[in-house]
Amino acid sequence: MTTTAHPGSGGPAMLDWLRTRRSLRSFAARPVDDAILARVMSAAITAPSNTNRQPWRFAVVTDAALRASIVDAVRTRTEAIKAVIARSHHAEDFASYGDFFFEPLASAAVIIVPQWRNYPDLIANLIASGGGDPGAYHTAATMQAELCSTSAAVMTLLLQAHAEGLGACWMAGPMVARDDVCALLGISEPWRMVGAIALGHPEVTGATPAAPARKPIERVVTWFPPRDPKEQP
Ligand SMILES: Cc1cc2nc3c(=O)[nH]c(=O)nc-3n(C[C@H](O)[C@H](O)[C@H](O)COP(=O)(O)O)c2cc1C
Repeated sequence: MTTTAHPGSGGPAMLDWLRTRRSLRSFAARPVDDAILARVMSAAITAPSNTNRQPWRFAVVTDAALRASIVDAVRTRTEAIKAVIARSHHAEDFASYGDFFFEPLASAAVIIVPQWRNYPDLIANLIASGGGDPGAYHTAATMQAELCSTSAAVMTLLLQAHAEGLGACWMAGPMVARDDVCALLGISEPWRMVGAIALGHPEVTGATPAAPARKPIERVVTWFPPRDPKEQP
């Protein structure tokens, strides 16, 4: 087995670099080079997956008219939701938040729609074949392992995009127009959309938005045995 270190880095440098990744929401009009886009997609499929099922697919949309149709669909559904919420006392809460559902897509040179699918639950089938009740046991299906795998692929894609100097934003917002987006891209069962990724060159090269705060590590990590919080990197 060979092990390969992150080029020119080492652990601490890798961590510093990971901390520089940001979700970018506005992009330059410039297209993304085909070779770069191919590397970004090749990175996605290096992700780990349950039983190496690779339960993912990606629609990579550079076509301007199709991108505009996707943005239109998401904007229209967002406006419809806004109109409903406007009748409640929460109207202001959603007013500008809803724009986050489509705005990053509007200036992106590339829209990527990741998809995942379920596979038959092998272990449940084996339990059943032994006369057992699969419902009495938890299996990988309990954690939606195929969805997790596809999320891992998306994260890997985001990191490659960052390494390429591109900006990206993975978005759940476009789910409001799931049916329209799936129709536009020919996505149908068993494939299911996992949000959409806006991708492109940053508006200003090297300009990075401020990092949204992270919860302190001691709030989200429990060590066994317990550790002194001051020892965190
Ligand atoms: C599953 C998922 C869904 C998200 N959905 C949206 C979205 O709909 N619109 C948006 O602008 N950002 C979206 N984001 C980006 C988050 O707002 C962002 O990751 C978070 O604020 C932390 O910022 P950072 O990515 O720059 O570290 C999403 C991120 C994830 C992982």
